[in-house]
Amino acid sequence: MNTEPEDSNPSPHPHLAEVIDASRRSALRHGVALAAAGWAAPLAAAATPSLIGFKPVPVSRTDTVSVPEGYTTQVIAPWGDPVGLAGAMPAFRWDAGNSADEQAAQLGMHHDGLHFFSLDGSRSGLLVMNHEYVDPELLFPDGRAGWNAEKVRKSQAAHGVSVIEVREQGGRWDVVRPSRHARRITASTPMAVGGPAAGHPLLRTAADPKGERILGTFNNCASGITPWGTYLTCEENFIGYFQPPPEPDAHQRRWGLRAGEQAWLGWHLHDERFDAGRHPNEPNRFGWVVEIDPFDPASTPVKRTALGRAAHEGATTVRTRDGRAVVYMGEDAANEYLYRFVSRDKIQPGGARANATLLDHGTLSVARFDADGRGRWLPLVHGQGPLTAANGFADQGEVLVKARQASDLLGATKMDRPEWTAVDHDGWVYSTLTNHSRRGTEGQPAPDAANPRARNTMGQIIRWKEDGDHDGEAFRWNHFVLAGDPAAERPEARGNIRGDAFGCPDGLWVDGRGLLWIQTDMSSSVMGRGEHAGLGNNAMLAADPASGEVRRFLVGPVGCEITGATGTPDGRTMFINIQHPGEAPGERNDPAQPRRFSNWPDQRPDGRPRSATLVIRRADGGPVGS
Ligand code: FEO
Ligand code: CA
Ligand code: CA
Repeated sequence: MNTEPEDSNPSPHPHLAEVIDASRRSALRHGVALAAAGWAAPLAAAATPSLIGFKPVPVSRTDTVSVPEGYTTQVIAPWGDPVGLAGAMPAFRWDAGNSADEQAAQLGMHHDGLHFFSLDGSRSGLLVMNHEYVDPELLFPDGRAGWNAEKVRKSQAAHGVSVIEVREQGGRWDVVRPSRHARRITASTPMAVGGPAAGHPLLRTAADPKGERILGTFNNCASGITPWGTYLTCEENFIGYFQPPPEPDAHQRRWGLRAGEQAWLGWHLHDERFDAGRHPNEPNRFGWVVEIDPFDPASTPVKRTALGRAAHEGATTVRTRDGRAVVYMGEDAANEYLYRFVSRDKIQPGGARANATLLDHGTLSVARFDADGRGRWLPLVHGQGPLTAANGFADQGEVLVKARQASDLLGATKMDRPEWTAVDHDGWVYSTLTNHSRRGTEGQPAPDAANPRARNTMGQIIRWKEDGDHDGEAFRWNHFVLAGDPAAERPEARGNIRGDAFGCPDGLWVDGRGLLWIQTDMSSSVMGRGEHAGLGNNAMLAADPASGEVRRFLVGPVGCEITGATGTPDGRTMFINIQHPGEAPGERNDPAQPRRFSNWPDQRPDGRPRSATLVIRRADGGPVGS
């Protein structure tokens, strides 16, 4: 997104000598840290044929989508199309003139994480997707001028989650309207709270004195699913929606509220809970992972506090051999952390209802990556180690609400903005560390083994394998790839990609064949410029986990990021999201010129760019990517 990544972690960093030995320090100075952690092993083992079977596409700066020869794409479900609520299917107005009530029945803006839940094999299903944020300059005919209650309500209605029913006929996919499954969840939808922080004093407000009913979810970035068939949506940069108090306290500062700064939008002007000075606990009610049962449109979403509070990017769930759930989560902010939750109980047969409280009991841990290629999970458990009342944590609820402060005390590793996580068929867990262009600069952490590059403009993908099962206390790790452009002048920006160049990995998905899909999010302020000049628009690439080979599969239109990946069970249809086409490079869009940078996908003379879902198929009906 077109906003400076949050950086609110001032806690002391382990001295460089503790994490990097002398020889590695020398390697880092010369920009060759890539050799340190284990490329040799997977490459030596790679004797099997590549999983990748397509011809790569070149970089592009055009306002189109490019895919390899032999592939077709189709746009469905753009922002503003009706989701299919019976009796409420307002058409999109090309002048952005839809009302708040109409927007609440239409797909939201800025599509992000998504998942296909099958209804009938690979022919029909529910697509559930996040709407991360809004561009007010494109959402309203007059942009952000003159916030009023209606504009606040419309902007809140354009956030959240959509559930749509989709069906394939003759190779084409369509949204089913109306559908009894169709649903919009917005920044004002009532939600329940589960886990140790439910009802906690830190969650209580004037409007909700019991701290157990929260209105809405917003800035939902990546997503995940559970083995019992529910959708996990993650609240990422929630803090930007709150107007800071004149003098934020230490807790508020640690979560990004700054004196003298303004909320991104004008919600606090007409919905006073977003004024953090008047309602200091309201921000504590966001930053959670929210569980949604997509098959029951009447179900109440639940904020799962046992998974901890963070600027949550995503939540990827796997199962231990004995049947418990393990959730991997990244916190996308500079110098923040990677988390893992292990459920106390085993997953039960019987779907969402049988597992209604499974994510409310378990152990949350934060990752420490050591310089020797090993790592440890540090439990965030009240009463253990420094997480005591004497250090400001009254109980487990407070540890979870203040997970950042708890992780600081435990000495977790400050990462280069962890985005999505994914688990391959061999049990490796991958995390995209999208970039941290200020690492190693004054006042910022020095490079370390896991985050080895100063002024890391390109990002890397780290991966680890747990000792034993996914609930292991320790792990070994290496870098799957350091992103970059081999033509870059600065050695640290060149990377070590075996194949097509890319920068700023974000979305990540392992498909049914084991192919690792990487989606990029170079911000529009760097796209096509400086060290990123040779990388074109944001792209999606496929990587073979065994060989490390990376091939560019798709390039998106101008100003977009590529995010969200899912597919039908037969692997023959892939769905991804094209988010924020036409985002203005390093500035605000001009509401009077909505088509200035992009007019994707509609290319209408009276249109405006719209986030949308892209359906990708092979013309011959074969598995995508093979
Ligand atoms: Fe919303 Fe971290 O990307
Ligand atoms: Ca993202
Ligand atoms: Ca991103």
